[in-house]
Amino acid sequence: MNNEQRLAPVTGQPMNRVDGALKVCGRATYAAEFALPRMAHAVLLTSTIPAGRITRMDSQAARGAPGVLAVLTPFNAPRLPQHGKAAVEPPSGRMLSLLQDDSVAYNGQPIGVVIAQTLEQATAAAQLMEVAYAASAARLDFEQAKQTAYPPEKVNGQPPDSRRGDLAAGMREGAATLHARYTTPIEYHNPMEPHATIAAWNGGQLTVYDSTQYVSGVKKSMAKTLGIDASQVTVVCPFVGGGFGSKGSMWSHVVLAALAAREVGRPVKLVLQRPQMFAMVGHRPRTQQQLALGALADGQLTALEHDVVADTSFLENWIEPSALSTRMLYACPNLATSHRLARLNIGTPTFARAPGEASGSFALECALDELAQRLKLDPLELRLRNHAERDASKDKPFSSKSLRQCYQLGAQRFGWAQRPAEPGSVSDGRWRVGMGMATATYPANRSKAAAQVTLLPSGLAIVQSGSQDLGTGTYTVMTQVAADALGLRPERIRFELGDSRLPPAPVSGGSQSVASVAPAVQAACFAARAQLVALAVADKASPLHGQPPEQIDTVQGRLQLRQQPERGETVDALLKRHGQPVTARADSEPGKERETYSMHSFGAVFAEVRVDADLGVIRLHRLSGAYAVGKLLNAKTAHSQLMGGLVWGASMALFEHGQRDERNGRIVNANLGEYHVPVNADIGSIDIAFVDEDDPHVNPLGAKGIGEIGITGVAAAIGNAVFNATGKRIRDLPITLDKLI
Ligand code: MOS
Repeated sequence: MNNEQRLAPVTGQPMNRVDGALKVCGRATYAAEFALPRMAHAVLLTSTIPAGRITRMDSQAARGAPGVLAVLTPFNAPRLPQHGKAAVEPPSGRMLSLLQDDSVAYNGQPIGVVIAQTLEQATAAAQLMEVAYAASAARLDFEQAKQTAYPPEKVNGQPPDSRRGDLAAGMREGAATLHARYTTPIEYHNPMEPHATIAAWNGGQLTVYDSTQYVSGVKKSMAKTLGIDASQVTVVCPFVGGGFGSKGSMWSHVVLAALAAREVGRPVKLVLQRPQMFAMVGHRPRTQQQLALGALADGQLTALEHDVVADTSFLENWIEPSALSTRMLYACPNLATSHRLARLNIGTPTFARAPGEASGSFALECALDELAQRLKLDPLELRLRNHAERDASKDKPFSSKSLRQCYQLGAQRFGWAQRPAEPGSVSDGRWRVGMGMATATYPANRSKAAAQVTLLPSGLAIVQSGSQDLGTGTYTVMTQVAADALGLRPERIRFELGDSRLPPAPVSGGSQSVASVAPAVQAACFAARAQLVALAVADKASPLHGQPPEQIDTVQGRLQLRQQPERGETVDALLKRHGQPVTARADSEPGKERETYSMHSFGAVFAEVRVDADLGVIRLHRLSGAYAVGKLLNAKTAHSQLMGGLVWGASMALFEHGQRDERNGRIVNANLGEYHVPVNADIGSIDIAFVDEDDPHVNPLGAKGIGEIGITGVAAAIGNAVFNATGKRIRDLPITLDKLI
C-alpha cells in the first residue's frame, strides 16, 4: 500500500453499514424486542366516534378475563400534572390523549389501555370493553372547514404570510398567467416498524425502550408530562425501523405505556397495531394549494402567489409549511404566500418527510410546467431563466448553490433533450411516452449536539452521541468521521447512539443529524487525538518524546512525525504504557454563519412515464435525480437515502391516499393492503448523481443533510411527465388512472 492510499480518508467512501450484519442476522434489537423479565402487554382502546364525550366504560368483563392485570380508562387513570399538558410545546411537544378527561376529538383516539400477562390475553380482553358515548356534531368536511380557515401563529418559526413587491402589478405585467389549484391528500408515514414502547419502572426510575427519532426529546417530554425529574427517565433506542417524522414527537402511547407499567408494577410493552398507525401518530395533512403565476414572454416571472390550506385537528394548530420554499426558490420580484388551517375532527398532523417541501413542490413545480407550456418554453429553460442568485426571502446569499449544475447533470444523464415537445406526440405501442422534470430543495439545517470519545488501552475507541439511526446510516457515517479524525481504522471504532444517557444530540429530523452530530464527533475525536499527542510528547519512553505536537500526525493507528514518518509509535503502544483510557468530549453548535447565509440543498429530478392510451394505466419507467448536497460522508448510504426519497415521491405521485369515511371520520384504508405503497415493479429504474459541492459555511464537514430532499419535486416531475405523455393535467394527487380516462 503506498502512502497516498494509506492516507485516503474513510469519510466519503461507500463503506458498508457497520450494523448491516446485525440487521440481516436479526440481531439488531428494536424497541419491541427488548426482553424484560415479568413483562406485561398492553393494548390500546381507541374511540369509534369522531367527536363527543365518553359517558361510560364498562370494564368488568375485561377485568375478569384471563391474564388481565389492569384496565385504564379516563375514569380511573392516574391524574397527571396540568391534565397531562405540561409538555405541550407545539410543534413538537404534542397535545396527547392521556385519559385525563372524557372528551373525544377524533376517531381512533386512545381512550383506554388493557394490560395483561400476554398480548393475546390483552387483545381478547380489549374486545370485552363496552364504551358508551355522547356523540356531538363532528366537523369532517374539508370544504366546510375551509370556510373558517385561520392562520397558524408561525410556520417553522416564520410568519404564515409573506409578501414582497406588488403582486397585482406583476400579474398585469405577465404575457402569460396561470391560476390553478393543486391538492394533496392525507398521507401516512407507514414505517415498517410500528411505533412501539416498553416502559419499565425501578422504584422512581423509568426506563423507556421506544422507537423514536429523538431519545432526549422523549426523555424531556416524558418527565414533564409525568411531573418527575428528567434524571429519573432513561430512553433507549438503538435501532429505528423508519420514522419519516412520525417518530419525531412523543405520542400518547409512550406515556400510556409508562402509566400502565406503574399501574401493574411490571414492565409493559405497547406496540401499535398497523390500523392504529392511521390516526394517533400523525399524518401529512391534506392540502389545497392555489397558485397564481405571471411571466414575461421570455419566461421571466413577474408574479408568484402560493396560498395553502391544510387540515389540522381540534387539538393543535399543526401546519404543513407548503409555501415556505416558494419564498426563496425562484427569482421573482412580486411574491405572496399564505398558510391557513382547516380544523377537522381528525388526529393531529405532523412532520412527514420534507414537511412542506414535498407537498409544496408538487404544486409549485407543476404550475411552472403549466406556465412553460403556455409560454412554449422548455420547462427546464423556464427554471434557468428564473434561477435565484440570492435568497430574496431572507435577503441573504446562499452558502452554496449548485442548482444549475444539477439541472445540467440531471438533464444529460436522463436525456432530457429527447423529451417530446408536443404532449401526447410520442407512443411506444399502446403506451404514450412522456417526460417531466422538477426542482428539488430542502433546507440545510444544523442544531447543537455533543459527543464523547473514550480510547481504551485495549485499542478500541468508543465514540458516543445520543443521536438516532433511523435505518439511514448514522452508525456508519459517524464511524467514518471518527476513524478519520482519530487516525484509526473504522474497525477500531465502536459508535454508540440511541440512549438518553449519552451526550445529547438533536432530533433525527429536518435532515440534520449528519450536519449536527458529525461536527461534534469530529471535534471530540480531534480533542482525544490531541491528548494522545500530548501524552506521547511528555512520555520519556515514547520515540516522540519532546517533539513539537503540531508536527505529529496520527495515521492508521500510528503517531508519527510528519517529516520523518518512521519515527513514532502505535496508539496501542502508547495507551498500553499509559494504562488508562483517554477521554474527550465536545459540544458543537451552529454559529453566526447562519445569520449571514441562507443554507439549502438543491437538486433536479426527471421522470419518464408510459400511459396506456385507452386504459389510463400509468407506468413509471424511470426516475433520475441529480443533487448538490455538500460533501457526501458515505456515497453508498447517501445513494440509498436519496433512492428511498425518490421511491416515496413516486408513491406520493401515484399511490398514497388516506381515505376518510366522511360520516364518522374513520380512515377506511387503515392497513397496508388498501393504503397503497409501491412495490419494486412499480418503480422502474432509478438513477442518482451528485454534483461536487464545497460549502465552507454549513458546518465543519461541509455536509448538507440528505434525509428529505429526495422526496421533493418527484410528484411534480411525474405529474409533468404524465401531462407530457397525455396532454392531461392532473392537479390532484395521487395521479390514478380514473383521473386520466
Ligand atoms: Mo423529518 S419529517 O424532519 O423526520
